[in-house]
Amino acid sequence: MCGIVGYIGKQNATPIIIEGLRRESYRGYDSSGLVVFQNEGVVCIKAIGKLENLEAKLLNQNLNGTIGLGHVRWATHGGVTEENAHPHTDCKKNIFLVHNGIIENYAALKEKLIQKGHKFSSETDTEVLCHLIENFFRGNLEEAVRKALQYVKGTYGIAVISRQDPNKIVAARLSSPLLIGFNGDEYIVASDPAAVITRTKKAVNLEDNEIAVIAPEKFFILKEKTPQDLEIDSGEAEKGGYPHFMLKEIMEQPESLSDSLRGRLLVEEGLAKLGGLKKVEDKLREIERLNIIACGTAYHAGMVGEYMLEEYAGISTDVDLASEFRYRKPILDKKTAVLAISQSGETADTIAAIKEAKEKGVMTLGIVNAIGSSITKISEAGVYNHAGLEIGVAATKSFTSQLAVLSLLTLFLARQRQLSLVMGQRIAKEIGRIPELIKQVLINSPQIKELAEKYKNFNNFLFIGRKYNFPIALEGALKLKEISYVHSEGCGAGEMKHGTIALIDENFPTIAICPSDSVYEKMISNIQEIKARNGPIIAMATEGNEEIKNLVKDVIYIPKTLEMLTPILSVIPLQLFAYYMGVARGCDVDKPRNLAKSVTVE
Ligand code: G6P
Repeated sequence: MCGIVGYIGKQNATPIIIEGLRRESYRGYDSSGLVVFQNEGVVCIKAIGKLENLEAKLLNQNLNGTIGLGHVRWATHGGVTEENAHPHTDCKKNIFLVHNGIIENYAALKEKLIQKGHKFSSETDTEVLCHLIENFFRGNLEEAVRKALQYVKGTYGIAVISRQDPNKIVAARLSSPLLIGFNGDEYIVASDPAAVITRTKKAVNLEDNEIAVIAPEKFFILKEKTPQDLEIDSGEAEKGGYPHFMLKEIMEQPESLSDSLRGRLLVEEGLAKLGGLKKVEDKLREIERLNIIACGTAYHAGMVGEYMLEEYAGISTDVDLASEFRYRKPILDKKTAVLAISQSGETADTIAAIKEAKEKGVMTLGIVNAIGSSITKISEAGVYNHAGLEIGVAATKSFTSQLAVLSLLTLFLARQRQLSLVMGQRIAKEIGRIPELIKQVLINSPQIKELAEKYKNFNNFLFIGRKYNFPIALEGALKLKEISYVHSEGCGAGEMKHGTIALIDENFPTIAICPSDSVYEKMISNIQEIKARNGPIIAMATEGNEEIKNLVKDVIYIPKTLEMLTPILSVIPLQLFAYYMGVARGCDVDKPRNLAKSVTVE
């Protein structure tokens, strides 16, 4: 989604800002813009579409200013136009501002400002901030920003500059991430560490309601903060020889899984050690219900978690889409904990759901990948994924990491309750083998590529699975539709006969996830039902199952593991299938149309 980069220092600001925007652009955007102050005056340029369009416009501008702001926008209020792209400015073109988030009371503020004579030139909520700051501006920018923000309802990360109070950037945040990187006498303001990391690893994360003033000779926030090391490696933001981030991230799952598990498995004791839960360990013993909340792929991880937690820990578990949680009036009592799962830790719906749960006084936990993100700050305790930076818009390695962490959490809670030492040891040992098993799955990627070639002209797909692999059917369908724009549906295999089977014919292929587990026989019956209606079938089966070849022509094999861990393996061929289908159909797989990596609007 939207991204902010601001620069103040001694270098030419433009290339540094553009590079930062490029590193933030993985989140998804549809227009961009840049403002620079230089001797000749202010230059503000915007473009719709790719960042390259903005760069093309900058080519002959001879920009040399050393202070500036840049933005990539993902449209919410107002269409994808240059007028609506950031930076926005006030009537006098004194104040220039970039904004992430949503100003909820913008309509009321806009009306009042129009009555006072302000002229608006965009349809955005953001422009209201410029005019509001203009309204309070008396020569000191931070004072004007501080006063203006008192009237604002909503979420924001903003960076602001003023021609009448030049040589400083004022930055502020509320529920939208913003950090300031320090590199000698230069500062970079950004909404994503990826934009800062190539120039410096020293940064301060702004907290909610803080306003920072960043000038070459001084930097202050309302309270003093010490720069800390950013926990990402600049190499993570590169493709490392792969044509796309998505493929790189699929292929690095043996390593990302190992990182998620490192130091957390005590095989001899049959236990999981989760440092982030230490302070609530005793409270967790009392928990009788878990309510998982998440969006998108993380929601599918939560559904797998539900099966694991109920089967092994005996904890009654509900999974809710975060965007629906607040409408459901869930029964939350002292024996319930709410668990948010989020790669970015910034998904607005998930944040809102946690706030709602906190309001009701229940324990809130998080499984989050992004270190220091909003969800990690507002939840009581939690577990980091440590899957590393994920750039491809489609979640891949973060998903398998979420499943791995859920299996650790299950082991942790199950051993606090009924699970025996022997069973705990068995699960712990098998979780430890998963990175190796993933390597075996990835070896088959050329076969998946061939399958994608064979099936690339079909325009509809069905994915079916049961029990642990029901959520994987949903995830496989989600991956395919988001990456290749092919219509795909995920369905519980048993539910198929209640409607979806009506779609099946020779032009509607099905991917059936049928490892040798407790529901295998039932899956075979469903495959028979599809075959009887001439539907083409790709089956995913356990290595050694030769019999299935008598039933279907195309078989993808995965290694044998515990039933609860099968989803970590079965999802990988589906990620690869979506990837190769997307590439074969000429889609922009790293940045699919209309999607954003981190959805910071409700
Ligand atoms: C967006 C992304 C998905 C992701 C979902 C939830 O829709 O495109 O890949 O699963 O948000 O994001 P989160 O960061 O909360 O896991």
